[in-house]
Amino acid sequence: MANIFTIPNRIVAGEGALRLAGGELPAFGKKALIVTDPMMVKLGNTDKVTDMLDSMGIEHAIYDGITGEPNHEMIDRGVAVYQESGCDFLMAIGGGSPIDSMKAIAAVVANGGSICDYVGKTLVNPMPPTCAIPTTAGTGSEATSVTIITNLQTQVKMMIKDPALMVRMAIVDPQFTMTAPPSVTASTGVDALCHAVEAYTSTKAFSMSDMFALSAVKRIFGNLYRAYECGSDGKAREEMAIASLEAGIAFSNASVTIVHGMSRPIGALFHVAHGLSNAMLLDTCLRFALPGAPERFCDLAKAIGVYQDGMSDEEGAAAFAAAVSELLHKLKIPTPAEYGLDRTAFFDAIDKMAEDAMASGSPSNTRRTPTVEDLKVLYRALWDETSC
Ligand SMILES: NC(=O)c1ccc[n+]([C@@H]2O[C@H](COP(=O)([O-])OP(=O)(O)OC[C@H]3O[C@@H](n4cnc5c(N)ncnc54)[C@H](O)[C@@H]3O)[C@@H](O)[C@H]2O)c1
Ligand SMILES: [Fe+2]
Repeated sequence: MANIFTIPNRIVAGEGALRLAGGELPAFGKKALIVTDPMMVKLGNTDKVTDMLDSMGIEHAIYDGITGEPNHEMIDRGVAVYQESGCDFLMAIGGGSPIDSMKAIAAVVANGGSICDYVGKTLVNPMPPTCAIPTTAGTGSEATSVTIITNLQTQVKMMIKDPALMVRMAIVDPQFTMTAPPSVTASTGVDALCHAVEAYTSTKAFSMSDMFALSAVKRIFGNLYRAYECGSDGKAREEMAIASLEAGIAFSNASVTIVHGMSRPIGALFHVAHGLSNAMLLDTCLRFALPGAPERFCDLAKAIGVYQDGMSDEEGAAAFAAAVSELLHKLKIPTPAEYGLDRTAFFDAIDKMAEDAMASGSPSNTRRTPTVEDLKVLYRALWDETSC
């Protein structure tokens, strides 16, 4: 069967990437809108980008209104800033939130209307050039044709997927991830792990996505805990930045599955950061998914070195799940209860969450296909293992 494999037109990755990529930018346009968050301004990351643009004689305006995971109002304001300041291309510096926002702003600039109308639609008009500079090693948004924006009216985290959302250039410079605190390093790193594991075990996986997914899983097991424990370890940070990129490429082409499907409703209704809600679900969802693809999970066990000679596929798959549990434990990932979510409010929302998760399409990519009832059981199991 033939497959289409999509990646950014340019990927500049590794130490010194920002400097190396600068020469490419004059071809993007004359004035950049830099989409970012207040933390990036405070850390001086935005200055590094504007200094580089100044040295190239490229004008710029800054929109730092991404004050959390993006919602449609942030996008509306960004579109207005882009238009009022006469920009002709966009850059984003930050985690997945500013990068997703930049893509959504570019889409609305080109196609009009509201981002809330874009789910399931084809983006027909050519978009202004986009360039993403990630500062978390997590979402891989710098190499995905996806943007995730919360519709505040419906309280749904909309997943919008279109080849036009792939950025023209990704600058993956690990210098920007060095300041991420341990909790952000852990949850965003587990987000990348979910991307890679879900992509590898998705019904839509194929040879090219497999290659990136396997490499990402290997790198994450080799480096995430080190980056969490010792944030100043430049090698571990660089490996995680590459792993996040690889995992993004893998899932953008092969899709995510049950973890992400169930995670978005938790984020939308309870404002749990994306990586963290994935991390809370990963263990429980893996145990559900394992019987649907023991040979695939066994491959992952081989990739991270926990497979032992003579193990069956099922035993290898179980060894991989155990290694994931141990990593989550070492990264101190909280349960919903430990995080402080309200049990009653959560249980009251389970019906909506299960419906919204299923409607997103992601759970159906799991090789053991879940029903809406299965998703409800799994949500309950996050609180009470015996209900699973
Ligand atoms: N488009 C995609 O393919 C895709 C994939 C997965 C997730 N997402 C989306 O991405 C968003 C989450 O992105 P994220 O997990 O990268 O987090 P984020 O961008 O929301 O950032 C989380 C926090 O970390 C801070 N931060 C980021 N980098 C930092 C650094 N280097 N030093 C110090 N602080 C730093 C930010 O200021 C923010 O407070 C969610 O909305 C999620 O749905 C998108
Ligand atoms: Fe994700």
